[in-house]
Amino acid sequence: PTFFRQIQRAAPPSPTKRHTKISVVGAGNVGMAIAQTILTQDVADELVLIDAKADKLRGEMLDLQHAAAFLPRTKIQASVDYALSAGSDLCIVTAGARQIPGESRLNLLQRNVTLFRSIIPPLARYSPEAILLIVSNPVDVLTYVAWKLSGFPSNRVIGSGTNLDSSRFRFLIADHLDVNAQDVQAFIVGEHGDSSVALWSSISVGGVPVLSFLEKQQIAYEKETLENIHKEVIDSAYEVISLKGYTSWAIGYSVANLARSILRDQRKIHPVSVVASGFYGIEGGDVFLSLPAQLGRGGVLGVANVHLTDDEAHQLRDSAKTILEVQNQLGI
Ligand code: NAI
Ligand code: LAC
Repeated sequence: PTFFRQIQRAAPPSPTKRHTKISVVGAGNVGMAIAQTILTQDVADELVLIDAKADKLRGEMLDLQHAAAFLPRTKIQASVDYALSAGSDLCIVTAGARQIPGESRLNLLQRNVTLFRSIIPPLARYSPEAILLIVSNPVDVLTYVAWKLSGFPSNRVIGSGTNLDSSRFRFLIADHLDVNAQDVQAFIVGEHGDSSVALWSSISVGGVPVLSFLEKQQIAYEKETLENIHKEVIDSAYEVISLKGYTSWAIGYSVANLARSILRDQRKIHPVSVVASGFYGIEGGDVFLSLPAQLGRGGVLGVANVHLTDDEAHQLRDSAKTILEVQNQLGI
């Protein structure tokens, strides 16, 4: 006898109702912040945690399962065996070494490329139709590496990129103007890191473009203020890492936000790391950089043709050159 007496046999879910499954590889600070946010925001029906440390994995799984009474129902599993990730709609990769205080993201490259060689092929084998969302650093180069190692089409290989940098940018602008960050639209593009590019013309508050607003109001154009805010964005990670040893909460919300846009087919535009070759005069090889991209169930649905000033396009091309120099030494 079942606990409930069925009064009518439930019709099978409509074929369009998809059971969504997310696998998170790397159950560390970042992976668990992402997992926790995915659960809280009811992004998927099933969550799988994959890591190399079996005890930590089981501990994190049990600890999340024990919160079930406070969360939307989500099936939570964990294993060191990638077979458990089979049939994932979205695979989020956070496994890898992280920066020590003062270390740049690019310093992590060799260690994390070596890891990716053992992580990406099984993920791709068990979930050949999945979308890969790369978070491990240096995220732009590792997204390229995941693209090459998976053999997936580029629309299904995305890096979290400057979605996080843009969130920091929006917070700092909102804080400066004393408005809600959700009313601030602002894009940072390019490399997730030291050579990111702030799109000043993209900044709007409540739909009002800030630069033209300041010019029309003859308000002294706070160019220096905005440049200081962008510098604060670039310094953010270094400061947080020096204070708490790593960053996790903002990237957790940032990646869960991307996961929702993808799995719920939101068709929202996010600054994420995509194949940028061919845009804004970027050439010299396949390079992943953040551009405003429309995300949905098919992954990258398109890249927005935002206006860049000559200076912004030049900075973007420089960013691409930096990444290509590093990438070309990988032999991948
Ligand atoms: P962490 O050390 O807390 O977690 C890394 C996890 O990877 C560990 O649990 C470790 O066991 C696991 N791991 C190592 N080798 C593995 C393998 N072969 N298979 C499966 N799992 C494996 O590090 P944290 O703080 O979570 O950072 C992870 C990565 O995320 C770093 O590369 C960090 O730089 C990056 N990150 C990226 C951000 C972005 O905006 N793109 C923001 C914050 C962190
Ligand atoms: C950050 C680093 C860790 O931006 O990528 O938080």
